[in-house]
Amino acid sequence: MKIAILSRGKNLYSTKRLVEACKEKGHQASVLNTLEFEIHVEKKNPNLFYQNKPIKNFDAIIPRIGASITAFGTAVVRQFEQMGVFCLNTSQAITVSRDKLRAVQILSRHHVGIPLTEFVKQRGGIMPAIERVGEPPVIIKLLEGTQGIGVILADSKKMAEAIVETLQSTKQQVLIQKFVKESKGTDIRALVVGGKVIAAMRRSASGDEFRSNVHRGGSIQAVDLPEEFQTTAVHAAQILGLKVAGVDMLESNDGPMLMEVNSSPGLEGIEKATGVDIAGAIIDYMEEEVMFPEIDIRQRLTLKNGYGVAEIPIGPKSELVGKTIVDSGLRDRDVNVLSIIRESITIPNPRKDREITSGDILICFGKLETLKTLIPPKKRTRTRK
Ligand SMILES: Nc1ncnc2c1ncn2[C@@H]1O[C@H](COP(=O)(O)OP(=O)(O)O)[C@@H](O)[C@H]1O
Ligand SMILES: [Mg+2]
Repeated sequence: MKIAILSRGKNLYSTKRLVEACKEKGHQASVLNTLEFEIHVEKKNPNLFYQNKPIKNFDAIIPRIGASITAFGTAVVRQFEQMGVFCLNTSQAITVSRDKLRAVQILSRHHVGIPLTEFVKQRGGIMPAIERVGEPPVIIKLLEGTQGIGVILADSKKMAEAIVETLQSTKQQVLIQKFVKESKGTDIRALVVGGKVIAAMRRSASGDEFRSNVHRGGSIQAVDLPEEFQTTAVHAAQILGLKVAGVDMLESNDGPMLMEVNSSPGLEGIEKATGVDIAGAIIDYMEEEVMFPEIDIRQRLTLKNGYGVAEIPIGPKSELVGKTIVDSGLRDRDVNVLSIIRESITIPNPRKDREITSGDILICFGKLETLKTLIPPKKRTRTRK
């Protein structure tokens, strides 16, 4: 494979390790500075220049997009996607995971623990939001901070309110979040590659610091990750659409609580702490997947009017409970079951003798007229006060 690594530093540990791993496995690697691309948008001819020369034919790219260049960096990745090049993480997934609010919003409807989080715009909404989050101290967090910068612990409600007001007055967007006390300045970083946790470490803050980031002086140690944490990490990466992710979780009394998911996780700390060849695992994974660059099924499947994708929750009273897919008659009514979500597992392409059970969610593609009859009427949900 010809692999391009989009990175602003040839000498960064992670970049060097990825180049090494490519070479070891017989691939060609080029490190290209993300900022030196020119994006060429033309009908039927999406293209890219690098330092004003047309780029070579790459089979795959590994984006390592820093937080300060998210917009341009993801535009470059998006262009590679239009050109049909396999991108290890897609522009969409990078964008979503970079924004801490977006990420927890999307995760919140799934089986993934997250700390209670509020986001408000109006001044009058700040104090009530702080109160909904619970007893102080509370966490105030910049939407796009990194390395622990922009995460503040406010000791009192008044202090929290003042911090939020101050940051908002300088046009900063902030989250108000429940402080997970019992994690005591530690968190878990799980490295997910292609749907598996391949390495994990615990980071511990130094002294009375509550942020465990290595950049804030945190120390690291390899951990054997309990099943529940592995499932949460894999599930979160999958929901956000990341093939490679550094998933950060707090160890709360209620199990894993996901804080953020990094699309360009640093490899140095975790490779050194665990001895796992993560760069090698990433390249192995790319060898398997390179034939499958991202396609957006919605762009392709719903071109025909009257067809679409829908999520069908199966309640205990559904007529489909206890029937197999073939007996459900869905296919005869022009509906295909693409997958079944059962608890936190997904059964892709379920076979026709697979039985539908209460609590399942069927992801279906088909005639909207039929799908309409299968979707139960919406229950009214109330926000907890
Ligand atoms: N809700 C929380 N409760 C307890 N500790 C937290 C919470 N949110 C963040 N922290 C601590 O602060 C650190 C940095 O927060 P994080 O959201 O990961 O921001 P960054 O992107 O700057 O790393 C975390 O690694 C964790 O140690
Ligand atoms: Mg973090």
